Amino acid sequence: MLDSEAATAALAAEFARSLEPGDVVALHGELGAGKSVFARAAMRALGVTDEALPSPTFAIIQEYEGRNCRVAHMDWYRLDGVEELEAIGVRDYFQPPWICLVEWPERAPELLPDKAVHLFIACVPDKLDARAIRIECS
Ligand SMILES: Nc1ncnc2c1ncn2[C@@H]1O[C@H](COP(=O)(O)OP(=O)(O)O)[C@@H](O)[C@H]1O
Ligand SMILES: [Mg+2]
Repeated sequence: MLDSEAATAALAAEFARSLEPGDVVALHGELGAGKSVFARAAMRALGVTDEALPSPTFAIIQEYEGRNCRVAHMDWYRLDGVEELEAIGVRDYFQPPWICLVEWPERAPELLPDKAVHLFIACVPDKLDARAIRIECS
């Protein structure tokens, strides 16, 4: 159980230390669950120093420079179809030097590589600032 946003960010930073170029992280969870909080803290730990880390909802992909890696933060929420991602050449981001963090992966699950790490973040009833998190490696 993660009791605060800070706890989620701390876990994300620790988790990020295990990531290597070529890794793909699928962030599952409802709107407001904390996918972006997790992704931003992970990106910071990966060495992304940009002052603002805007949500990629409108751009689908935001690209960043990390330490010994590049980071792609994606949000597939507003995706019109798989074709849109294929047109962008999304699979290129699943290879080194990229580390790829994907919010709303369930919009196009068939596009995710088999090796993706799946992270499920969920709110906890009656506990406003608590979250439950589960990590699955396929
Ligand atoms: N334990 C927690 N972990 C992550 N976010 C939390 C937590 N408790 C409260 N929050 C709040 O929940 C919201 C999560 O927003 P965000 O990360 O944008 O969600 P998502 O990207 O899943 O839609 C933020 O406003 C954050 O402050
Ligand atoms: Mg988000």
